[in-house]
Amino acid sequence: AIDISSLRAKTGYITIDEGFKNTGSTTSDITFLDGEEGILRYRGYSIEDLADKADFLEVAYLLIYGELPTAAEYDVFVAKITKHTMVNEDMRKIFDGFPVNAHPMGIMSALASAMSGFYPDSFDDKKPDNTELHIIRLLAKFPTLATWCYKKSQGHPINYPKNELDYCSNFLHMMFALPVENYKVDPKVSSALNKLLILHADHEQNCSTSTVRLVGSSKANIYSSISAGISALWGPLHGGANQEVIEMLEEIRNDGGDVQKYIDKAKDKNSGFRLFGFGHRVYKNFDPRAKIIKKAADDVLSLLGVNDPVLEIAKGLEEAALKDEYFVSRKLYPNVDFYSGIIYRALGIPTNMFTVMFAIGRLPGWIAQWLELRDQKQAIGRPRQIYTGPTIKDFVEKSKR
Ligand code: ACO
Repeated sequence: AIDISSLRAKTGYITIDEGFKNTGSTTSDITFLDGEEGILRYRGYSIEDLADKADFLEVAYLLIYGELPTAAEYDVFVAKITKHTMVNEDMRKIFDGFPVNAHPMGIMSALASAMSGFYPDSFDDKKPDNTELHIIRLLAKFPTLATWCYKKSQGHPINYPKNELDYCSNFLHMMFALPVENYKVDPKVSSALNKLLILHADHEQNCSTSTVRLVGSSKANIYSSISAGISALWGPLHGGANQEVIEMLEEIRNDGGDVQKYIDKAKDKNSGFRLFGFGHRVYKNFDPRAKIIKKAADDVLSLLGVNDPVLEIAKGLEEAALKDEYFVSRKLYPNVDFYSGIIYRALGIPTNMFTVMFAIGRLPGWIAQWLELRDQKQAIGRPRQIYTGPTIKDFVEKSKR
């Protein structure tokens, strides 16, 4: 039998921190987060200021290059992105193979990974460093690919990008314009989308970002690393929660609107049910993004004249949860996903696209973190374990088992 104590002597002691609740994986200059005080800053700029005053591509530039762009730098950045919004027609062949009801996050992850096949210099160290071009391509083509998913689900032809429009308006155009209709992007809708994307743009070492960094640490190319991040984001405990929230709120509404019943269900550990959009690994006071989004939900709905009854259900649920000892003692507050779906819905975005919207917002953060990891020249990410299986077994021939 293997002598575990001699193994320990060889490997040293290993710390177990399941879920990495208290383990830092890196140093980073990108995002500052204080969970106790509810503070979030990108490169030193407060999320409140950025969400209020900035443009999504300005924030993308800030995250990726480290400082807000000058007007001239911004124009060059936007021009580069605009030049790359079209997607290689051969990507359509991959896309066309998906069934009409495929979840858009599955498609997005596959297409992001497929991009490495179209740009093979992204994984060849010997070629000149085209990283900036790959970054531009990702930022430019991601919204185009996302709108393909929606168009497919509707049975509509895709819309090509309209490059005279800004980033958010172009996305809305590709989503909603029909050849027969003279669709005009509503600036109120575009501005609400801009705010949401900024709020999602980075959030230090969350599950999807850590995934991007871990995959990137093996020197995998940027497209594959981002594809892995999309897959991680899809889970209902992470970005997928925004879809779950709306589905939960609808269920509560259809069930008579009794929020207390659902709070009680979430408190019952045997129910397997959690209040989606509540709780956060780091925020133990409030999520500053949720605060901004809650106000934005009110503003956007009234500006667009939308009356969505689930907004009242959401507010009632929040109010009841914040009075409940279970939620108070565990410091469970609404997170970024709680009210975002209500805004997406008011903007006409269907539920199964909510997590894709999150991914479009998070893309600059993933890119910035991937770049930082590469520049830090970190060792490959390779966590350890403590083995708890059998020590050693004698092999028995199949016929004798
Ligand atoms: N509903 C009911 N109980 C909850 C909830 C919830 N939403 N969230 C946490 N709890 C309880 C847990 O059961 C646990 O209780 P216990 O101490 O009695 O065992 C306690 O609160 C602590 O929860 P953990 O799961 O240990 O907290 P963790 O930091 O691991 O998880 C998470 C954070 C995943 C966000 C969790 O709060 C959750 O599942 N929330 C619902 C899903 C969600 O909204 N995800 C989006 C997060 S934001 C984002 O990723 C963009």
